[in-house]
Amino acid sequence: MNYILTNSYEAMSKKAASLICAQILMKPACVLGLATGSTPIGAYKQLAALFKAGELSFKGVSTVNLDEYCGLQETHPQSYRTYMNDNLFNHIDIKKHNTYVPDGMASDYAQECAKYDKTIHELGGIDLQLLGIGNNGHIGFNEPGEEFVMDTHRVLLSEDTISANSRFFENEISNVPTAALTMGLRGIMHARKVVLLACGKAKFEIIDRALYGPVTPKLPASILQLHPDLTVICAKEC
Ligand code: F6R
Repeated sequence: MNYILTNSYEAMSKKAASLICAQILMKPACVLGLATGSTPIGAYKQLAALFKAGELSFKGVSTVNLDEYCGLQETHPQSYRTYMNDNLFNHIDIKKHNTYVPDGMASDYAQECAKYDKTIHELGGIDLQLLGIGNNGHIGFNEPGEEFVMDTHRVLLSEDTISANSRFFENEISNVPTAALTMGLRGIMHARKVVLLACGKAKFEIIDRALYGPVTPKLPASILQLHPDLTVICAKEC
């Protein structure tokens, strides 16, 4: 594991963007696994700036997102498709048809999940997977449980996650979707490189337990201890 501690959110974001940039320069037709939430927004800003400066092109890049809420139209302001368009895709030259986010409105979730895993497989797997971490140790929406779930699947969001994400839904818990589709742990663990971001003291305890405690499905991020190419970038302040 490569552990990088930075002093600020900006420094963490710049470091993450520079690793993603290096990945694209090394393999212009690479597959990026992308996360949403507050943590990666700064890295996406940095990537958009690199594109604007003419230093980076996403023309050959494909992306697969970790997750999407069930029951939100992709045009909903809080859907992860909207988030990706607003924070990254609308600011770079990526071809939209090469960007994949699970369809949270699919009528047959099992079929949609199987299709998503097939897509990842057909793309040749993920070259670099970007991750944040939930306060309860989730990655993607792989919530704490009794077993590691390997395939893309529908998950009922934990109370912790619903409460944490209510800040995106006018702080109203009842507005937060209760279920999501999430990439499973195989997609994440088979990524050739994983970059995990965490910022602020609130995340330090869970990062510490995930990286140095027992590997257990009760703390899904702990499985990353088994990943052969994991870079963790933390920021002291958020
Ligand atoms: C979102 C995702 C989640 C978030 C996690 C942390 O696609 O995969 O695992 O990374 O909930 O969210 P923030 O960054 O908002 O603290």
